Amino acid sequence: MSENGHSETSAPGSSWALVTGSTSGIGRATAVGLAQDGYSVIVTGRDRDRAVETRRDIEAAGGHAIELVADLGDPAAVRGLVTRIREAVDGPLDVLVHNAGGGGFAPTESTPEEMFDAAFNLHAKAPFLLTGAFAPAMAERGRGAIVNVGSLSTSMAAAGTCAFQASKAALSMMTKSWTAEYGPRGVRVNSVDPGFILTPVNEGVRHMYGTYLASLPAGRGGDAEDVANAVRFLVSPKASYINGATLTVDGGKTAVVAM
Ligand SMILES: NC(=O)c1ccc[n+]([C@@H]2O[C@H](COP(=O)([O-])OP(=O)(O)OC[C@H]3O[C@@H](n4cnc5c(N)ncnc54)[C@H](OP(=O)(O)O)[C@@H]3O)[C@@H](O)[C@H]2O)c1
Repeated sequence: MSENGHSETSAPGSSWALVTGSTSGIGRATAVGLAQDGYSVIVTGRDRDRAVETRRDIEAAGGHAIELVADLGDPAAVRGLVTRIREAVDGPLDVLVHNAGGGGFAPTESTPEEMFDAAFNLHAKAPFLLTGAFAPAMAERGRGAIVNVGSLSTSMAAAGTCAFQASKAALSMMTKSWTAEYGPRGVRVNSVDPGFILTPVNEGVRHMYGTYLASLPAGRGGDAEDVANAVRFLVSPKASYINGATLTVDGGKTAVVAM
């Protein structure tokens, strides 16, 4: 571990992928999957122990990763992460996955301003700052891929989740804005919108959703790999003509009307 908090520096000739929120759930599965696809992965989240676990999972499978912890809810820490990535990685990034997410839920009238700001800092401002830092070098080289992990809440509402949903909707719009900005210079930007995915964030409420999950066209709740596979596809050459799209990974939830 260096003084900068990263485990090692760049492997020569690597293609680099930054996966935010890769200390858990969908982000961890995406980081492991992208490493299997040959990327060196920058693992990041707030929890150092879980960041190290993700790196070790990647290394155990023969891949290469470094971990850099940061609180992406704090714009100064996001700028600090940019600096630390530039110190650790020699050359431009090839892939950005804006996946970190979570946060509080409350009715609008009782949502503390801090909760509203935290949601927008994490889901909108952090991706905005990170893309502003790394997409220009991708565009200069004429290649790169960005995936924004949104939520079904960018297209469907639920009471008591306004700050979360509005901030995810902002990220969803960034997919289109960045497609306009960077698409003509070879950078593809897309969204993946997960439905109910069994990750640590909702493992504790799984028992409440049995009937709902069984009623989905897929007949089950999704797992982190279901979403990771969609991200891996979107950054791959197989998706070379897919720009500004949203791939919904929800087991059919939004395709059918409940009867
Ligand atoms: N699971 C679902 O049903 C579902 C549905 C729709 C959308 N999503 C979206 O999918 C993404 C991943 O969710 P998940 O289910 O995999 O949840 P998870 O297991 O709780 O993982 C969330 C990740 O985000 C990171 N994170 C949260 N706040 C952060 C902060 N302030 N700074 C830096 N990192 C932060 C966490 O890292 P640390 O804990 O180490 O900080 C963790 O790695 C999220 O954007 C979520 O909104 C999930």
